[in-house]
Amino acid sequence: MATFAQAPQDLTSYEYRLFNKMAVGMDAFHEGFRQTWTELLSICNAGRLPSDITPGAYVGKFLEWCAALDRHHALEEEHVFPKLGMKMPVFRPDFSEPSIDQKGCKTRPEIYAQHREIHTGLDTLHEYLKAWAREEKIEVDLVEIKRQMDGFGEVLWRHMDEEVQMLKAENMMLYWTKEEMEGLPFKVKS
Ligand SMILES: [Fe+2]
Ligand SMILES: [Fe+2]
Repeated sequence: MATFAQAPQDLTSYEYRLFNKMAVGMDAFHEGFRQTWTELLSICNAGRLPSDITPGAYVGKFLEWCAALDRHHALEEEHVFPKLGMKMPVFRPDFSEPSIDQKGCKTRPEIYAQHREIHTGLDTLHEYLKAWAREEKIEVDLVEIKRQMDGFGEVLWRHMDEEVQMLKAENMMLYWTKEEMEGLPFKVKS
C-alpha cells in the first residue's frame, strides 16, 4: 500500500532524489533563464554592446528569452500546476490561505499572482523588442531596456526561487506518495 514518508531523514538516497526531482528539474530551467537575464542585463549596465554582438543579435537573443519564459509559464499553468494542485492547494489558482497551509507547506500562495506581475513587465518588453526588430533600427536603447527589466526583475527572481522551494522534497513528501511521485514530471537525477 502507498504510504507517506515520515521525515526527510528517513528517506533513502533514491527516495530523497525522487521527492526532490521536480525542484531539481525546475531549478535547471530557471538557471537557464537567470544566466541569460544576467548576461543581457550586464550589457545594459555596461552601457554599450560588446564589439562582437550586433544590435540585431542582442535583440534576437532577448526575443528568444522572452518567448521561452512565456512558454515556460504557459506550460506550468496549463499542465504542471493543475496536476500539482490535485494534492497541493498552493498550486490552485484560487488558493488564498495564509503563508503556511494546513500541512505546513512553507510557501507563499502567490504563484499565479507572481506570473501575472512578471508578465505585466515581460509582455511590454517583449512587444517593445518585437517592434524594434520590425523597424530594423540601427541603435538599441540599453537605458530603456534596463528600465523595463528593472520593473519586473525582482518579482521574476523571487518567483523562480519560491517556486523551486515549493517543489523541494520536504514539501512534496507531505502530499505525495512515492508511487505518485514516479508519475510526476522530470526524471530522477543520480
Ligand atoms: Fe518555473
Ligand atoms: Fe513559474
